Amino acid sequence: MRTFCLLISTAGILVMAGCSGVQRTPPIQVWPDMRMQPKFEAQQTSGLFVDGRASRRRPEGTVARGHLLEETPLNTGMQADGMYVGKSPVAITPEVLAEGEWRFNTYCAPCHDKTGLGRGMVSQRWTAWQPADLTQDSLLEAADGDLFNVITYGERTMPPYGAQNRPEERWAIIAYLRVLQRAQHGSMNDVPDNVRTGLEYKPGPPPVEVPSLDEPTPAKGAPKQ
Ligand code: HEC
Repeated sequence: MRTFCLLISTAGILVMAGCSGVQRTPPIQVWPDMRMQPKFEAQQTSGLFVDGRASRRRPEGTVARGHLLEETPLNTGMQADGMYVGKSPVAITPEVLAEGEWRFNTYCAPCHDKTGLGRGMVSQRWTAWQPADLTQDSLLEAADGDLFNVITYGERTMPPYGAQNRPEERWAIIAYLRVLQRAQHGSMNDVPDNVRTGLEYKPGPPPVEVPSLDEPTPAKGAPKQ
Protein backbone atom coordinates (compact mmCIF):
# COMPACT_ATOMS: atom_id res chain seq x y z
CA MET A 1 0.00 0.00 0.00
CA ARG A 2 2.82 2.43 0.89
CA THR A 3 4.59 1.76 -2.41
CA PHE A 4 1.30 2.36 -4.23
CA CYS A 5 0.78 5.74 -2.49
CA LEU A 6 4.39 6.73 -3.24
CA LEU A 7 3.93 5.86 -6.90
CA ILE A 8 0.68 7.85 -7.18
CA SER A 9 2.19 10.97 -5.54
CA THR A 10 5.38 10.79 -7.66
CA ALA A 11 3.21 10.55 -10.79
CA GLY A 12 1.13 13.51 -9.53
CA ILE A 13 4.22 15.68 -8.97
CA LEU A 14 5.52 14.81 -12.43
CA VAL A 15 2.17 15.76 -14.02
CA MET A 16 2.07 19.07 -12.15
CA ALA A 17 5.67 19.85 -13.12
CA GLY A 18 4.60 19.24 -16.72
CA CYS A 19 1.95 21.95 -16.38
CA SER A 20 4.75 24.39 -15.44
CA GLY A 21 2.25 26.63 -13.65
CA VAL A 22 5.16 27.78 -11.49
CA GLN A 23 7.01 30.47 -13.39
CA ARG A 24 10.67 29.63 -13.77
CA THR A 25 13.10 30.69 -16.43
CA PRO A 26 13.75 28.39 -18.10
CA PRO A 27 10.70 26.38 -16.93
CA ILE A 28 11.15 22.81 -15.77
CA GLN A 29 9.93 20.68 -18.62
CA VAL A 30 9.42 17.00 -18.11
CA TRP A 31 8.17 16.61 -21.66
CA PRO A 32 9.64 19.40 -23.78
CA ASP A 33 6.87 20.66 -26.06
CA MET A 34 6.96 22.84 -29.15
CA ARG A 35 6.74 26.04 -27.12
CA MET A 36 10.48 25.78 -26.65
CA GLN A 37 12.05 25.96 -30.07
CA PRO A 38 14.56 28.17 -31.82
CA LYS A 39 12.47 30.80 -33.61
CA PHE A 40 12.08 34.53 -34.11
CA GLU A 41 9.21 36.30 -32.39
CA ALA A 42 7.44 39.26 -34.02
CA GLN A 43 9.49 42.48 -33.87
CA GLN A 44 12.69 40.66 -32.87
CA THR A 45 16.01 41.55 -34.39
CA SER A 46 18.12 39.20 -36.44
CA GLY A 47 21.63 39.39 -37.78
CA LEU A 48 20.54 37.33 -40.75
CA PHE A 49 19.25 40.25 -42.84
CA VAL A 50 20.90 43.56 -43.68
CA ASP A 51 18.11 45.65 -42.13
CA GLY A 52 18.40 43.75 -38.84
CA ARG A 53 14.70 42.78 -38.66
CA ALA A 54 13.55 39.22 -38.11
CA SER A 55 10.10 39.85 -39.65
CA ARG A 56 10.31 40.34 -43.37
CA ARG A 57 8.28 42.87 -45.31
CA ARG A 58 6.03 41.46 -47.96
CA PRO A 59 7.59 41.81 -51.42
CA GLU A 60 6.01 44.73 -53.21
CA GLY A 61 2.94 43.88 -55.27
CA THR A 62 2.26 40.61 -53.46
CA VAL A 63 -1.41 39.73 -53.09
CA ALA A 64 -2.64 36.94 -50.83
CA ARG A 65 -4.65 34.28 -52.62
CA GLY A 66 -8.29 35.26 -52.99
CA HIS A 67 -7.58 38.87 -51.97
CA LEU A 68 -6.98 40.48 -55.32
CA LEU A 69 -9.13 43.60 -55.50
CA GLU A 70 -8.69 44.94 -58.98
CA GLU A 71 -9.85 48.48 -59.61
CA THR A 72 -13.02 47.44 -61.37
CA PRO A 73 -16.49 48.98 -60.94
CA LEU A 74 -17.42 45.87 -58.92
CA ASN A 75 -14.72 46.54 -56.32
CA THR A 76 -14.68 50.33 -56.25
CA GLY A 77 -18.14 51.48 -57.34
CA MET A 78 -16.33 53.82 -59.77
CA GLN A 79 -16.14 53.88 -63.53
CA ALA A 80 -12.89 54.24 -65.44
CA ASP A 81 -13.62 57.98 -65.90
CA GLY A 82 -13.74 58.48 -62.12
CA MET A 83 -17.54 58.82 -61.91
CA TYR A 84 -19.74 56.69 -59.64
CA VAL A 85 -21.35 53.75 -61.41
CA GLY A 86 -25.03 54.47 -61.85
CA LYS A 87 -26.34 50.93 -61.57
CA SER A 88 -24.99 48.06 -59.52
CA PRO A 89 -22.85 45.61 -61.55
CA VAL A 90 -24.39 42.71 -59.58
CA ALA A 91 -27.56 41.16 -61.00
CA ILE A 92 -30.45 41.29 -58.54
CA THR A 93 -31.79 37.84 -57.66
CA PRO A 94 -33.87 36.61 -54.70
CA GLU A 95 -30.62 35.26 -53.16
CA VAL A 96 -28.90 38.64 -53.48
CA LEU A 97 -31.87 40.38 -51.86
CA ALA A 98 -31.95 37.85 -49.01
CA GLU A 99 -28.24 38.37 -48.40
CA GLY A 100 -28.75 42.15 -48.54
CA GLU A 101 -31.62 41.98 -46.06
CA TRP A 102 -29.56 39.94 -43.62
CA ARG A 103 -26.57 42.27 -43.94
CA PHE A 104 -28.66 45.44 -43.74
CA ASN A 105 -30.37 44.22 -40.58
CA THR A 106 -26.99 43.30 -39.10
CA TYR A 107 -24.78 46.22 -40.09
CA CYS A 108 -27.12 49.12 -40.84
CA ALA A 109 -30.29 48.67 -38.78
CA PRO A 110 -28.66 49.42 -35.40
CA CYS A 111 -28.51 53.05 -36.57
CA HIS A 112 -30.79 53.34 -39.60
CA ASP A 113 -33.44 50.87 -38.26
CA LYS A 114 -34.92 48.01 -40.28
CA THR A 115 -37.01 50.33 -42.47
CA GLY A 116 -34.10 52.69 -43.22
CA LEU A 117 -35.89 55.70 -41.74
CA GLY A 118 -33.05 56.34 -39.30
CA ARG A 119 -34.69 55.57 -35.95
CA GLY A 120 -32.39 52.71 -34.93
CA MET A 121 -31.50 51.82 -31.35
CA VAL A 122 -28.23 53.76 -31.46
CA SER A 123 -29.96 57.00 -32.39
CA GLN A 124 -32.67 56.41 -29.78
CA ARG A 125 -30.13 55.91 -27.03
CA TRP A 126 -27.67 58.52 -28.25
CA THR A 127 -29.84 61.33 -29.54
CA ALA A 128 -26.89 63.56 -30.42
CA TRP A 129 -25.90 61.14 -33.20
CA GLN A 130 -28.64 61.03 -35.81
CA PRO A 131 -28.24 58.84 -38.91
CA ALA A 132 -29.67 59.84 -42.25
CA ASP A 133 -33.14 58.78 -43.42
CA LEU A 134 -32.13 56.38 -46.20
CA THR A 135 -35.50 56.75 -47.93
CA GLN A 136 -35.17 60.53 -48.43
CA ASP A 137 -35.41 61.87 -51.98
CA SER A 138 -31.72 62.80 -52.32
CA LEU A 139 -30.76 59.17 -51.65
CA LEU A 140 -33.40 57.84 -54.05
CA GLU A 141 -31.51 59.71 -56.74
CA ALA A 142 -28.02 58.82 -55.48
CA ALA A 143 -26.01 56.57 -57.82
CA ASP A 144 -25.48 52.99 -56.65
CA GLY A 145 -21.72 53.66 -56.74
CA ASP A 146 -22.19 56.61 -54.36
CA LEU A 147 -23.97 54.37 -51.82
CA PHE A 148 -21.24 51.75 -52.35
CA ASN A 149 -18.60 54.29 -51.37
CA VAL A 150 -20.59 55.44 -48.34
CA ILE A 151 -20.69 51.82 -47.10
CA THR A 152 -17.01 51.22 -47.93
CA TYR A 153 -15.50 54.36 -46.43
CA GLY A 154 -18.27 55.90 -44.30
CA GLU A 155 -19.37 59.52 -44.71
CA ARG A 156 -18.98 62.42 -42.27
CA THR A 157 -20.10 60.92 -38.92
CA MET A 158 -21.00 57.51 -40.35
CA PRO A 159 -18.33 54.83 -39.77
CA PRO A 160 -17.08 52.64 -42.66
CA TYR A 161 -18.47 49.12 -43.14
CA GLY A 162 -16.13 47.97 -45.92
CA ALA A 163 -14.14 45.70 -43.60
CA GLN A 164 -17.24 43.73 -42.59
CA ASN A 165 -18.72 43.39 -46.08
CA ARG A 166 -16.94 42.21 -49.22
CA PRO A 167 -17.76 44.14 -52.43
CA GLU A 168 -20.48 41.69 -53.61
CA GLU A 169 -22.04 41.88 -50.15
CA ARG A 170 -22.05 45.69 -50.26
CA TRP A 171 -23.91 45.55 -53.59
CA ALA A 172 -26.41 43.15 -51.99
CA ILE A 173 -27.00 45.69 -49.19
CA ILE A 174 -27.62 48.38 -51.81
CA ALA A 175 -30.11 46.14 -53.65
CA TYR A 176 -32.03 45.68 -50.40
CA LEU A 177 -31.76 49.38 -49.57
CA ARG A 178 -33.50 50.11 -52.88
CA VAL A 179 -36.30 47.77 -51.76
CA LEU A 180 -36.70 49.75 -48.53
CA GLN A 181 -36.76 53.01 -50.46
CA ARG A 182 -39.38 51.65 -52.83
CA ALA A 183 -41.46 50.48 -49.87
CA GLN A 184 -41.65 54.04 -48.51
CA HIS A 185 -42.61 55.51 -51.86
CA GLY A 186 -45.28 53.05 -52.94
CA SER A 187 -48.56 54.29 -54.38
CA MET A 188 -51.89 52.71 -55.29
CA ASN A 189 -50.51 52.20 -58.81
CA ASP A 190 -48.10 49.59 -57.43
CA VAL A 191 -50.99 47.45 -56.15
CA PRO A 192 -52.45 44.93 -58.65
CA ASP A 193 -56.07 45.76 -59.60
CA ASN A 194 -57.58 42.61 -58.09
CA VAL A 195 -56.38 43.37 -54.54
CA ARG A 196 -57.01 47.10 -54.49
CA THR A 197 -60.46 46.90 -52.91
CA GLY A 198 -60.41 47.99 -49.31
CA LEU A 199 -56.99 49.63 -49.58
CA GLU A 200 -58.27 53.09 -50.54
CA TYR A 201 -57.77 55.75 -47.95
CA LYS A 202 -60.88 56.28 -45.89
CA PRO A 203 -60.95 59.11 -43.37
CA GLY A 204 -61.34 57.76 -39.83
CA PRO A 205 -63.80 59.10 -37.24
CA PRO A 206 -63.27 62.73 -36.23
CA PRO A 207 -60.85 63.20 -33.31
CA VAL A 208 -62.38 63.12 -29.82
CA GLU A 209 -62.76 66.55 -28.26
CA VAL A 210 -60.42 66.81 -25.29
CA PRO A 211 -61.48 69.37 -22.64
CA SER A 212 -58.97 72.14 -22.21
CA LEU A 213 -56.75 71.74 -19.17
CA ASP A 214 -56.48 75.50 -18.72
CA GLU A 215 -59.97 75.68 -17.16
CA PRO A 216 -60.11 74.00 -13.72
CA THR A 217 -62.83 71.34 -13.69
CA PRO A 218 -65.10 71.80 -10.67
CA ALA A 219 -65.13 68.85 -8.29
CA LYS A 220 -68.29 66.74 -8.43
CA GLY A 221 -70.96 68.14 -6.11
CA ALA A 222 -69.10 71.43 -5.59
CA PRO A 223 -71.40 74.45 -5.71
CA LYS A 224 -71.45 76.04 -9.17
CA GLN A 225 -69.98 79.56 -9.17
C1 HEC B 1 -23.14 53.48 -36.15
C2 HEC B 1 -24.29 54.04 -36.83
C3 HEC B 1 -24.43 53.76 -38.31
C4 HEC B 1 -24.43 52.55 -38.94
C5 HEC B 1 -24.30 51.18 -38.32
C6 HEC B 1 -24.65 52.82 -40.33
N1 HEC B 1 -24.79 54.16 -40.53
FE1 HEC B 1 -25.23 55.07 -42.28
N2 HEC B 1 -25.19 56.87 -41.37
C7 HEC B 1 -24.97 57.07 -40.02
C8 HEC B 1 -24.97 58.49 -39.74
C9 HEC B 1 -24.76 59.11 -38.36
C10 HEC B 1 -25.21 59.13 -40.97
C11 HEC B 1 -25.29 60.63 -41.22
C12 HEC B 1 -23.89 61.08 -41.56
C13 HEC B 1 -23.79 62.58 -41.58
O1 HEC B 1 -24.51 63.20 -42.38
O2 HEC B 1 -22.99 63.09 -40.80
C14 HEC B 1 -25.35 58.09 -41.97
C15 HEC B 1 -25.58 58.32 -43.30
C16 HEC B 1 -25.76 57.34 -44.25
C17 HEC B 1 -26.04 57.58 -45.64
C18 HEC B 1 -26.22 58.94 -46.29
C19 HEC B 1 -24.90 59.49 -46.69
C20 HEC B 1 -25.09 60.79 -47.47
O3 HEC B 1 -24.55 60.85 -48.58
O4 HEC B 1 -25.77 61.68 -46.96
C21 HEC B 1 -26.16 56.37 -46.25
C22 HEC B 1 -26.44 56.08 -47.71
C23 HEC B 1 -25.93 55.37 -45.23
N3 HEC B 1 -25.70 56.00 -44.03
C24 HEC B 1 -25.96 54.02 -45.46
C25 HEC B 1 -25.66 53.06 -44.50
C26 HEC B 1 -25.62 51.65 -44.77
C27 HEC B 1 -25.97 51.01 -46.09
C28 HEC B 1 -25.24 51.05 -43.61
C29 HEC B 1 -24.98 49.57 -43.38
C30 HEC B 1 -23.90 49.00 -44.10
C31 HEC B 1 -25.07 52.08 -42.61
N4 HEC B 1 -25.32 53.29 -43.19
C32 HEC B 1 -24.71 51.84 -41.30
C33 HEC B 1 -24.75 56.11 -39.07
C34 HEC B 1 -24.67 54.77 -39.31
